[in-house]
Amino acid sequence: MSPFQLTRTLPEDATGAALRADVLHGLTRTSKTLPPKWFYDAHGSDLFEKITELPEYYPTRAEREILLDRAPEIAAATGTRTLVELGSGSSDKTRHLLDAMPGLHTYVPVDVSESALRQAGEALIAERPGLDVHALIADFTGGLSLPRTPGPRLVAFLGGTIGNLLPVERAGFLASVRSLLSPGDALLLGTDLVKDESVLVAAYDDAAGVTAEFNKNVLTVMNRELGADFDPGAFDHVALWDTEHEWIEMRLRARTAQTVKIPALDLAVDFAGGEELRTEVSAKFREDGVRGELAAAGLGLTHWWTDREGRFALSLSMAR
Ligand code: AVJ
Repeated sequence: MSPFQLTRTLPEDATGAALRADVLHGLTRTSKTLPPKWFYDAHGSDLFEKITELPEYYPTRAEREILLDRAPEIAAATGTRTLVELGSGSSDKTRHLLDAMPGLHTYVPVDVSESALRQAGEALIAERPGLDVHALIADFTGGLSLPRTPGPRLVAFLGGTIGNLLPVERAGFLASVRSLLSPGDALLLGTDLVKDESVLVAAYDDAAGVTAEFNKNVLTVMNRELGADFDPGAFDHVALWDTEHEWIEMRLRARTAQTVKIPALDLAVDFAGGEELRTEVSAKFREDGVRGELAAAGLGLTHWWTDREGRFALSLSMAR
């Protein structure tokens, strides 16, 4: 068998259909919302890479620090033979884990982007002769099925992306991750932590305006994919801390009253002046909350590691 395999579990047109459904549903309700996954076309993914290098955006650096420090402990605690990474992207941070796992048999990167999977996969097999890479083109928020590879399995979900799910979606997601695991298999989860409001808001409203451009990119995506006529200049970027839910919200605020046409949906959407469209929720966590959500899904927390400044956490939990 070739050391690099790619499996598509997502129909070629799934993305277009899902975008149409999300836009129709999200823009015809009283409080307008869109799911954050639509930021990430090629330009949006580039902008996100830029965000990770901004002085205000600490999560990527904080998580990398933890991974560098703790990879050997993670490898020892899990005895991982198959590493599954959800939303693997460039598999960049994962290198630290892979380097600490010389006995790893198979790496299963899972992403919606075929090009990212091919690039990362080809590079990895060149660096790690003997490692099987079985890439999955899949949307990990739907049900996944994994190739039959040796255990123990470790599923890694990094970056704090779990915070983009609403609490009820998180419960469903963790339950579906648990269903991929056998007792003794593990989940490595990255979660951004509750901290001072000014630090959080700055991370989502940077001085250089990269996050504002990233936020407005979803309008460009709808213009291109659905023939819509959004004017990105007619919206302001808003980032705010919701104290009750302990999450950051990103919104786009219409500067003036306007009507936007979306031909692919045969739809015209009215915005009042000042009306806001919620484009992202990014929840921040506390140790007790994470432990509780994991436990509810049948995962027992065994390790909790933070960066030296206590901004971000990696947790390891075991399937019971
Ligand atoms: C990639 C989902 C972890 O929520 O912090 C960055 C995305 N949004 N700046 C996050 C994001 C605005 C990011 N995640």
